[in-house]
Amino acid sequence: MKLIKGNSEEEILKLADESVDIVCIDPPYLYLKNQKLEREFDERLFFEQLKRVLTKDGFIIMFGRGVSFYRWNCILDDLGFIFKEEIVWDKSYGSSPLMAITRVHETISIFGKEKAKIQKVKIPYVEMKGEDLSSIKVDINRIKTVFSNSSHFDALKKYLDSGELSFDGEYLASTTITNGRKRVNRCISTAQTISEGMNEKTIIKLKREHYDSIHPTQKPVRLLERLLQLCLPNKTKKEIVVADFFAGSFSCGEACYNLGIDNFIGIEIDDEYYNLGVERIDKLKPRQEKFEL
Ligand SMILES: C[S@@+](CC[C@H](N)C(=O)[O-])C[C@H]1O[C@@H](n2cnc3c(N)ncnc32)[C@H](O)[C@@H]1O
Repeated sequence: MKLIKGNSEEEILKLADESVDIVCIDPPYLYLKNQKLEREFDERLFFEQLKRVLTKDGFIIMFGRGVSFYRWNCILDDLGFIFKEEIVWDKSYGSSPLMAITRVHETISIFGKEKAKIQKVKIPYVEMKGEDLSSIKVDINRIKTVFSNSSHFDALKKYLDSGELSFDGEYLASTTITNGRKRVNRCISTAQTISEGMNEKTIIKLKREHYDSIHPTQKPVRLLERLLQLCLPNKTKKEIVVADFFAGSFSCGEACYNLGIDNFIGIEIDDEYYNLGVERIDKLKPRQEKFEL
């Protein structure tokens, strides 16, 4: 890992063309008053440089809020990046009780270069459902329907015993017409999501890592892992390079470490955040003896 203390506008110039697979950035949102992390940057020049350093199938994962976020999205579009998806991080609780509207989310956009392809990622069922008991009850009821249909019962048993799906396209084969209306039976696909996980969604519900945060706008590591997984190129983990040019407490570095990606480049301008972040990453050893500074 390369943890660099410096100004990204200068550091990015040192990176080779098409040398980074994923850029994950959480730039200053430029609306807070008297906060040291709120530094303006030459947006057009910076995003042009991102285009230069990203591989042809490279991605940008970008956090942001308000006018600056919409402006950055427009710049990326203008530079020829392809908009892939917008993700909402549902934090479940409000940032400040003083606000008229309690803000419980953050927005993330994903852009790619010409060959970028979003991966299908399976998220464990329990992680996806969380404490949503009513949705779990709906799934139980879906599975319960096998007791009134012997072919579904046999198909479910076969799937649970062997992992094999006997329906040729489960949705089609298990569709029945009742009183002229199509009814899709989801018993087997529901069992499948419980055992194999669910596709990622555009709303990711995750609590903030409140108690051990060392940065005022620290992002949850698990959120970053899930976002990065969507953008992984068709390469070995050893070959993948991820960069965060507004690294703060190096949350993205920890996410990369957890995913087995050692080639992380993190750049942070502020001494205090940088030092706290390095300490944090240092505690993640021992997969690497020493991180490069
Ligand atoms: C929104 S915070 C990122 C927080 C980070 N996602 C985390 O989880 O800790 C933005 C960070 O970018 C840093 N920063 C601002 N301008 C910078 C620049 N030109 N080069 C490098 N870092 C910069 C700020 O000091 C701040 O820590």
